[in-house]
Amino acid sequence: MVTSVAVKALLLAAASLPFTDLAQAQTIRDGNQTVAANATTVAPGAADVSPDSADSGVSYFSFESTQLTPEVIANLTALNLTGIEYFTFGNASSPMAKRDSAGCKVLPGDAAWPSEIDWFLLDLLLGGALIKGVPVAAPCYSNWHQYNADECTTITSDWNSSDFHASQPTGIDWPLFEGVTCLPPTLAPTNATCTLGGMPSYIVNVTNVAQIQLAFNFARSLNLRLSVKNQGHDFNAKNVGAGSLSVWTKHLNEIQYLGPEFTIGSYKGPALKIGSGVDTLQAYEYADALGLEVVGGISTTVGLGGGYIAGGGHSPLISMYGMAADQVLSMEVVLPDGRFVSVSETSYPDLFWALRGGGGSTFGVVTSLVIRAYPKLPVTTLTFSFGTSENVTNNTFWEGMDAVWATFPAYADAGHYRYWTILCASESSCSFTMSPHWANNCTSAQLQEFVDPLFANLTALGMAPEDVVYTEFDGVLNAFTSTFPASSEAVGTWSYHTGSRLFPRGNWENATALAAQSAAIRNAAIEAGMMMGYNIKAAVNPTVNQTNAVNPAWRDTLMHGMLGAVWTQTATPEDIAAANQVLTERLQTWRDVSPGSGAYMNEADINEPDFQQSFYGSNYPQLYAMKQQYDPWGVLYAITAVGSEDWYVTDQIPYYPTQNGRLCRVEN
Ligand SMILES: Cc1cc2nc3c(=O)[nH]c(=O)nc-3n(C[C@H](O)[C@H](O)[C@H](O)COP(=O)(O)OP(=O)(O)OC[C@H]3O[C@@H](n4cnc5c(N)ncnc54)[C@H](O)[C@@H]3O)c2cc1C
Ligand SMILES: *[C@@H]1O[C@H](CO)[C@@H](O)[C@H](O)[C@H]1NC(C)=O
Ligand SMILES: *[C@@H]1O[C@H](CO)[C@@H](O)[C@H](O)[C@H]1NC(C)=O
Ligand SMILES: *[C@@H]1O[C@H](CO)[C@@H](O)[C@H](O)[C@H]1NC(C)=O
Ligand SMILES: *[C@@H]1O[C@H](CO)[C@@H](O)[C@H](O)[C@H]1NC(C)=O
Ligand SMILES: *[C@@H]1O[C@H](CO)[C@@H](O)[C@H](O)[C@H]1NC(C)=O
Ligand SMILES: *[C@@H]1O[C@H](CO)[C@@H](O)[C@H](O)[C@H]1NC(C)=O
Ligand SMILES: *[C@@H]1O[C@H](CO)[C@@H](O)[C@H](O)[C@H]1NC(C)=O
Ligand SMILES: *[C@@H]1O[C@H](CO)[C@@H](O)[C@H](O)[C@H]1NC(C)=O
Ligand SMILES: *[C@@H]1O[C@H](CO)[C@@H](O)[C@H](O)[C@H]1NC(C)=O
Ligand SMILES: *[C@@H]1O[C@H](CO)[C@@H](O)[C@H](O)[C@H]1NC(C)=O
Ligand SMILES: *[C@@H]1O[C@H](CO)[C@@H](O)[C@H](O)[C@H]1NC(C)=O
Ligand SMILES: *[C@@H]1O[C@H](CO)[C@@H](O)[C@H](O)[C@H]1NC(C)=O
Repeated sequence: MVTSVAVKALLLAAASLPFTDLAQAQTIRDGNQTVAANATTVAPGAADVSPDSADSGVSYFSFESTQLTPEVIANLTALNLTGIEYFTFGNASSPMAKRDSAGCKVLPGDAAWPSEIDWFLLDLLLGGALIKGVPVAAPCYSNWHQYNADECTTITSDWNSSDFHASQPTGIDWPLFEGVTCLPPTLAPTNATCTLGGMPSYIVNVTNVAQIQLAFNFARSLNLRLSVKNQGHDFNAKNVGAGSLSVWTKHLNEIQYLGPEFTIGSYKGPALKIGSGVDTLQAYEYADALGLEVVGGISTTVGLGGGYIAGGGHSPLISMYGMAADQVLSMEVVLPDGRFVSVSETSYPDLFWALRGGGGSTFGVVTSLVIRAYPKLPVTTLTFSFGTSENVTNNTFWEGMDAVWATFPAYADAGHYRYWTILCASESSCSFTMSPHWANNCTSAQLQEFVDPLFANLTALGMAPEDVVYTEFDGVLNAFTSTFPASSEAVGTWSYHTGSRLFPRGNWENATALAAQSAAIRNAAIEAGMMMGYNIKAAVNPTVNQTNAVNPAWRDTLMHGMLGAVWTQTATPEDIAAANQVLTERLQTWRDVSPGSGAYMNEADINEPDFQQSFYGSNYPQLYAMKQQYDPWGVLYAITAVGSEDWYVTDQIPYYPTQNGRLCRVEN
């Protein structure tokens, strides 16, 4: 229990809310100062439990020991404080929200929207962690009291930095599907204004588990929309929602080494426990210092234990060790009913299956994960390019691409990872860039020998690879920071949207299918002007549990291809919708040559037809049933997440869905 000194401090910290004193608030509510004064003796609404009481058998992080326990709730309830009932746990046998608004979540301005006193009580119990939602770019607009021209200049220059957005309560990397309701004016649509739009109304700056539990209980009881944001990377704005209470997990960033012989279930070996707010760079640095490496992505700020692992997670190590989700050994999770549980092969095994690949913001909020680590291995990267020229026709270029594609099975089977781009200024002018070919456990000499046959074939076509650079690294960390520097990531823009497809190995085993795939990719790349792709596979790894909810299409994939739609800053919402529709239709040609496969939910077309099949495959019925079981209230929602077909956001135009509207249940 936190002492009353802390309580006074938080009362001061809550100065941004209209009520700075709960006694005053309660007096306004019902004239009872006695009870109100006593409420401060139970705030924050949390107790410290033993770090060794986790059912996973892995000690809690200190932030996880601070919980909303049944005893805390009993003590709160005993105060008879108006509104204290909002903080009790959910009961699956009463799946209706206590305040239902015609099947919709409430919005500010509704009669059922919580009063200022309710928000004050929440903040008090949170220990002062509640932040009022203000758009990051509000200082650029004179109708916000935050208006400040100098600050606007700084915000504008930071706008393309993912670190900047990750540090802001309402910062997200991709504003497009939020609704682009408040950007710095020079980067915004023509004549833009600034509104809160799809951004949350309040944010909980989470530093302990009790705060997540309180937020869940409050949102569920009051029929509020809840959103979950970690690093804010999601391309489709699955991290925000108009009128929502946001659970911001970024600061849950503890890491701990569990030793070289950590044992759980059938696993024995090196493992790390990471808070769900840990980002890729932090995990790579921590592991590297121990002579280890972990399966992570290629962006410094992507949240390893947030949306990345929840959605599956591909990595430069994927072709050696499998998906990032496969590496998880146990998790700690706050469920939609507000309870905090351990999830492993033996504790909630159904959730252990679902939370590894079944998508973020669906079954609960993960607070930490134990992941497998591997000994550090050397890496060699290779970059090169080739293209059409005076003497190389378009057809020859695509013969060169066929030569590249022909290498996909063998290269992935060798444990390599390749990230590449095709640019086509016109049908007759295309170029290919490998950036990079990432060869695990390989020296430069070994890699040269490995690619010799491909290079010979390209040379025979008159397209000897150009700008060939081999670089040796001692491990993942240095290969990563050198190959994918943070400065190379420009986020914050709204002028494009991408979709993707997973191409199955079977296409490489059937000449007709491979030719059809090649033609479909060629046409799409020429029409779109650009595509990106990965040559990877989700390796079979007997040392971890790969029975999980990762999209089964991943298990057969040799190539993850991405295609984009672009528009200019003068585009209207209708223009954007039209461009998005063209993308969705163009991707159909990729779907047609990969029947039964799917797409990666974390890098997907928001308008994907039959997203249930595409992002979840045969796992969908089981995932949907579990969603009804664990979240009958619909506390958690994200567009294209499991069960999201039961909800819609009002006031949208087809092909340009945003989170700037009211979330309502679909009426059956
Ligand atoms: C520059 C860039 C590079 C990328 N590189 C890769 C890559 O190499 N490999 C790859 O697989 N993907 C990659 N991605 C995609 C990435 O996996 C997704 O964007 C992922 O959703 C990011 O997770 P986050 O937690 O950082 O983002 P957020 O936007 O904060 O969260 C994403 C989703 O997960 C939910 N969520 C977040 N935290 C939790 C939690 N603790 N519990 C439950 N739900 C949660 C959110 O509600 C949201 O729905 C990349 C994306 C970008 C922008
Ligand atoms: C205030 O609450 C206390 C304790 O529940 C109760 O005894 C008292 O009657 C209440 N006073 C008013 C004015 O409601
Ligand atoms: C309020 O606190 C006082 C002093 O701590 C205590 O005597 C009293 O019983 C409490 N009242 C309630 C309603 O909890
Ligand atoms: C609950 O209240 C009792 C009685 O005041 C107190 O002894 C106990 O520490 C409280 N428990 C918690 C978890 O706050
Ligand atoms: C709370 O209300 C119950 C029932 O009305 C009453 O018995 C109890 O004394 C009250 N407790 C406090 C602390 O006021
Ligand atoms: C922007 O505002 C100006 C001045 O009101 C107006 O002339 C112009 O048509 C507007 N442009 C768009 C695209 O709405
Ligand atoms: C959120 O909490 C962290 C950790 O206590 C703190 O460093 C940060 O300043 C807080 N952010 C905001 C916007 O309050
Ligand atoms: C993997 O974990 C699941 C629980 O999700 C369990 O049912 C299964 O037996 C485990 N598989 C292996 C190979 O250990
Ligand atoms: C194209 O071929 C001609 C004739 O062989 C040669 O002179 C010229 O240098 C070539 N151009 C390029 C860019 O290789
Ligand atoms: C593509 O190349 C072929 C010859 O290989 C040529 O006939 C055709 O005109 C080229 N198309 C374009 C658009 O350059
Ligand atoms: C890495 O390469 C060495 C030497 O070729 C080999 O002994 C080792 O098994 C390889 N490690 C992995 C994980 O493939
Ligand atoms: C190179 O071309 C030959 C002949 O077409 C083919 O058999 C071989 O598989 C190709 N190798 C690579 C690596 O492209
Ligand atoms: C090869 O692929 C083609 C086109 O997708 C398909 O029609 C055919 O049935 C496939 N052949 C085999 C043997 O699978």
